[in-house]
Parts: sequence; C-alpha cells; structure tokens
Amino acid sequence: MDFCTLAIESSCDETSASVLRNGTVLSNVISSQFFHKEYGGIVPELASRAHISTIDKIVKTAFIEAGITRSKISLVAATQGPGLIGSLLVGYNYAKGFAIGAGIPFAGINHIESHLFSCYIGKEEIEFPFIALVVSGGHTILFLVESYSEYKVLGSTQDDAAGEAFDKVAKMLGLEYPGGPLIDKLSEDGNENYHRFPSSQLKNIYDFSFSGIKTSVLYFLKKSFPGGKMSIPLNDISASFQKAIVGTLVEKTILAAKNYSVKSIAVSGGVSANSKLRSEFERYAENGYNIHFPEKKYSTDNAAMIGYTAYLKYRNTESNEIAGQILESAFARFEY
Ligand code: KG4
Ligand code: ZN
Repeated sequence: MDFCTLAIESSCDETSASVLRNGTVLSNVISSQFFHKEYGGIVPELASRAHISTIDKIVKTAFIEAGITRSKISLVAATQGPGLIGSLLVGYNYAKGFAIGAGIPFAGINHIESHLFSCYIGKEEIEFPFIALVVSGGHTILFLVESYSEYKVLGSTQDDAAGEAFDKVAKMLGLEYPGGPLIDKLSEDGNENYHRFPSSQLKNIYDFSFSGIKTSVLYFLKKSFPGGKMSIPLNDISASFQKAIVGTLVEKTILAAKNYSVKSIAVSGGVSANSKLRSEFERYAENGYNIHFPEKKYSTDNAAMIGYTAYLKYRNTESNEIAGQILESAFARFEY
C-alpha cells in the first residue's frame, strides 16, 4: 500500500514543504528568505515572521505539485532541531497541528540526521557501516554510521562551521549572504595556489577548526590590500580559501575511512553543493571508495530530506502503531 508523508523544514531561512509517496519525492517546494542579504546574515526574529506568513502557501503548493490530496497522508514530519528556535516552532507546530487534525502520526526529525540521509534520495541506499561528513552553515560533523539509528560522532568543528567560514570570508570580500555559492563560482576562474591559507592542528585528528583560516584571510587582506576591496583579486582569494577548507574536509574524512576500514563515504549539508568538494572526493572514487553526494537540490535545506528520513524511520520500525511516539523522541541524544 502507498505510504504518503508530508514533511516540513523551517529550521533557518528556508520554508520548505515536501510530499513523498513511499521513498519517492513527489514535490519539494522551497521558499528562501532573500531579504536577509540586506543585513549580511540571518535575523532570527525576521526569519520566524517570514515562516509564519509563508508556510500555509508552501504546503498548499506542495500538495498541488504532488498531485495528491491531504486525505492520502499517513505521516507528518517536521524538523525538530537543531536550528533557530523561533523558526523551528513555526514548522513544527504547523506540522503537529496537521497531524492531530488528521488523526495521523507525527515525527520530529533531527536536521543533521536528515542531511545525512539526503544522500539516499532517488539513489541506492548505502550499505552500513559508512563514514558521513555533514557540512553545513551550522555544523561540521564526521560520523561513523553503523545503522539507521547508530551514529558515532568521530569529530566536529570546535568553532565555526565550514559553511559559516565560507559566509564570513565572503562578507570580508564584499559578497552577499550566503557567500558559499558565490565563492564556489568565483573560484572557477581563480588560481587556487595564489596564497596558501593554513589549516589548524587539533588534539582529536577528526575535529575541525575554521576560525583560524578565516582570521588569516582577514590579516592577509588587510596587509596585502590596504587600498580596500576594489583591488582584491576575488577569484584568486576565493579559490585559495576554498582549497584550504576543502583540503581539510577531504583529508580528515578519508583518514577516518582508512582508520575504520570503511569504503563508503557520504557527504551532505549545504557545503556539499560545492564543486571543488565534489571533484576532490570524486578522485577517491577511482581509488576504490564509494563516494555518495545528494543531488545538489537536496544539499541545502529542504523538506524532502526530512520526509525521507521520517519514511526510513517509519519503515524500519516494527510496530507502526507505536511509531509516532518513538519518532518524536528518537533523537533526544542530539543537542537542540
Ligand atoms: O545545510 P544548509 O542549507 O543550512 C544549514 O543547515 O546550515 O547550509 C547552508 C550553508 C551556507 O553556509 C552556504 O554558504 C553553504 O551552505 N553553501 C555552500 C555552497 N552552497 C551552499 N558553500 C560552499 N559552496 C557552495 N556551493
Ligand atoms: Zn541544513
């Protein structure tokens, strides 16, 4: 029998709704709050207000695009955390209200976990165990994934997330928010060997630190271009900075795969849209590693990944009668 899920994601500055039939995405509607550009970063209060005014429209559009009616939905899922609390509350309560009204189960889904499983959407499922790098604007975490619910955190960032470093360096270069995609684009025509930005050495070899690279870009710009932003070679700085960040991400992930004798690697989260990160990992595919990335549209925040993760959890729960309860509390061990 068909099992349809409505999923909602509103953890940050995207309001998104998706309808899935079994594991197939029928619609994935995303409304991005571009007005934050004006402030150079996300303003939480404005983000939650925008979610409130958009969410009902986005859900309606998701049903129209999916071509099914509300009565066909068997499960409602929403991002439970982590994220901006005011933003989360909008999607979470909308979804819960929908589930209560329809008398169907509700699933609160962990955002990081859903990035991890975004690599599965429309593709073969990855055999356990595998190494997962989740790399976004808020998180940089390396996991050993042993089953659908067993993840060992090998390392994580000790300061800025990789996406955050991209965004902050972009701001120094006078680029708009979010800067990651712009740095990616500028790097295409840049010399990545123009300047070598340092990487940090940490006690735990799987931990990350990006605030040092960010600061060294700042000092390099101040020292080398006292005349201001106009004289900065944007392409070369972007490419050199991107090389440093990508180098660290790839090096630590491959080291984890080697040390844990794992051949499959899944890379997800907003920064997994980065072309240099994709091409550097692809090189390891030639050396016997199975490299998995989500389709680019599932790299950055979207509701399809929330719905897909909820579907996986539900499918793997033996008694569907209690699934609703289990799902809501299943991720308590992650901090919100
Ligand atoms: O996963 P995501 O949409 O939101 C969070 O959960 O944080 O990730 C957003 C982050 C932003 O920092 C953005 O600059 C970065 O992902 N990003 C990129 C690219 N596309 C998005 N960073 C580098 N290259 C890209 N192509
Ligand atoms: Zn995200």
